[in-house]
Amino acid sequence: MPVISEPSAIASALRDAPPRPPCGAVLMADPAGFRVESVINPWMADATGMLNVIDSMRAREQWNALRQAYLSIDIDVQVIDSAPGMPDFCFCANQAVTFLDAGNRPAAILSRMRSPSRQPEVPLFERWYRHKGYQVHQLPHGVAPFEGTGDAIWHHGKRAIWGGAGPRTADTAWEHVAAITGAPVFPLRLVDPRYYHLDTCLCVLTQDTALCVPAAFDEASRQRLHKGFANLVAVDDEDAANFACNAHCPDDENVLIQKGSSDLVEALVRAGFGVIELDTSEFMKSGGSVFCLKQELV
Ligand code: ARG
Repeated sequence: MPVISEPSAIASALRDAPPRPPCGAVLMADPAGFRVESVINPWMADATGMLNVIDSMRAREQWNALRQAYLSIDIDVQVIDSAPGMPDFCFCANQAVTFLDAGNRPAAILSRMRSPSRQPEVPLFERWYRHKGYQVHQLPHGVAPFEGTGDAIWHHGKRAIWGGAGPRTADTAWEHVAAITGAPVFPLRLVDPRYYHLDTCLCVLTQDTALCVPAAFDEASRQRLHKGFANLVAVDDEDAANFACNAHCPDDENVLIQKGSSDLVEALVRAGFGVIELDTSEFMKSGGSVFCLKQELV
């Protein structure tokens, strides 16, 4: 499958893409070692450059509440144990992207993390995926960085991927992701360092609805998004900084989202979604919220 950059080719590629089954289970990574030890994105320090301080007890409570929220909407949750010395391990969207391969077997492409501090996470996830029977794929030698589902976001209900490139994933990754997954990739260029992963500025809710932060993309990427979603909802600065686009809609019905974006939540409720507002404030101190604290299992 190709990388499709031409906006006018996106609607037909989506129409032709085979269906993708709904999400029934997620993986979450135990937050035992969660810390802020260095600044690898702009959210991790305050205005004076001081590292944010994590309250570990609060982080665990928030993580448990997220786990319960998934269980409450009948999404199974599996947990991978943390390992010492890995402060960002809990952001388990990032170490791989999962998919069903051509033989409908569960599969994963392993990430190549940009920051040395996160590189040791990947072999632990590799072991977990292999143990669960996933076919594990690597990008060709030298293709890096690539940060998994932080930048590779599946369209809902379709075998097609939105691929963020810039701060954490190289453009060169996408042709290989398309070849390995058999899914077309629609590339999107990220131009604002605050929105360093695609999942901080794009949230696919259903087959035709997504939230996005328009200013996080270049013009060509905005055009692609408009061709991909009949309802593309622009999220304002305040909600974007509240990680509203790092929400997760696993089932086309329920949206798990950081609390506090009240007008957006109201609009989602009016549009028929069930909204579960959660407090992920400890994880926001590291630049993440709901979406990056889980990986969809296939
Ligand atoms: N501190 C982590 C990092 O910078 C946060 C990752 C959040 N993940 C995400 N997909 N947005 O890598």
